[in-house]
Amino acid sequence: MSAPSTSRESAAPVQGVIRQHAEQAFRHELSALRDRDTRPKPAGWSMSPWGVRTYLVGGMLDDGTEISPKYIGDARIIEIAIATLATSRALLLQGVPGTGKSWVSEHLSAAISGDSTLLVQGTAGMDESALRYGWNYARLLADGPSRDAMVPSPVMRAMGAGKIARIEELTRIPSDVQDALITLLSEKTLPVSELGEEVQAVPGFNVIATANDRDKGVSELSSALLRRFNTVVLPTPATLEEEVRIVQQRVGAMHRAMEMPTEAPALEQIQRVVTVFRELRRGLTEDGQTKLKQPSGTLSTAEAIAVVEAGLVMSASFGDGKLSAEDLASALTGSVLRDPEQDQVPWSEYLKSVVRERAEWKDLYRACKRAL
Ligand SMILES: Nc1ncnc2c1ncn2[C@@H]1O[C@H](COP(=O)(O)OP(=O)(O)OP(=O)(O)O)[C@@H](O)[C@H]1O
Ligand SMILES: [Mg+2]
Repeated sequence: MSAPSTSRESAAPVQGVIRQHAEQAFRHELSALRDRDTRPKPAGWSMSPWGVRTYLVGGMLDDGTEISPKYIGDARIIEIAIATLATSRALLLQGVPGTGKSWVSEHLSAAISGDSTLLVQGTAGMDESALRYGWNYARLLADGPSRDAMVPSPVMRAMGAGKIARIEELTRIPSDVQDALITLLSEKTLPVSELGEEVQAVPGFNVIATANDRDKGVSELSSALLRRFNTVVLPTPATLEEEVRIVQQRVGAMHRAMEMPTEAPALEQIQRVVTVFRELRRGLTEDGQTKLKQPSGTLSTAEAIAVVEAGLVMSASFGDGKLSAEDLASALTGSVLRDPEQDQVPWSEYLKSVVRERAEWKDLYRACKRAL
């Protein structure tokens, strides 16, 4: 059976969309890397593992092109992920929410296949057709089963085109549906019994799945399926500096994209938000001196990014265009008080015993007290 065509053959930047795909937003970096990369490429890949690594962790090409880091953290983790994808095993990115699993999966697909859009979002109500294929019922009734009446899933399209298929939140998919992946990953074929045909995967095909371990109602992977994946855990950022860099980079990109009439957020504001998040997440102040009660929320890096972004919008819309503690306070409070009853005590105690005591944090203390 011939390869079904993929949804998008080119990665031209699209103006006027809210969010560009990685291969659109970073088209110049990707094409510079493809041009300069002379190392051996695995079959079906658009660049070598070295090229993919450079795209993910950043670097400078010998012609002076700068590649921005997409993943900030231990480069070894990215190397293991890339090496996995070059084998016949699939990649499972695991970790608590907001550690960049979807982000890394998107960028790996963009670098390896030039296409990050072959995506299945895992849900509890999903059936096998989302991983295999469905039917256009009007055509099925009119003409009977035919290739034209078949609606291939993104996974089937990835197999035919030799690209990476992404499966988000794999553990939300019911176990029996997940198991549809077993044959697909081991035999690299997808039988279409209604037509007496099959789609055979061509080189370049592989799967990146993501799963977070904090979800309620997760469906554990069967051991047969787990064996077909290599699991790579994305950790929360190791140091304050690393986490500040992540937030600064994402917020900087958003600030540029929105062309807001504000100054770029000051480093010390970002540092304070990240410090609050890290201290509450760990239940310990950065200096290791004071133990803290931990709130129920995950307080992830992704949420720290959202707090600073919300603050920026507040300052652009209602403030003086300079990000202040006042602008940040309500989003910060909202992130910490995920459960308004249970989280009230840890937050109040933190404000009183830590925030109030830091001489240069007085403005933040006052603003957060008012936001309560
Ligand atoms: N180590 C990191 N390096 C760069 N960016 C990161 C890192 N960790 C988190 N981020 C940023 O955090 C944001 C959220 O990440 P993402 O949505 O990929 O998280 P996730 O792990 O998929 O979370 P969830 O389990 O909730 O789906 C992204 O914008 C990403 O840029
Ligand atoms: Mg995700």
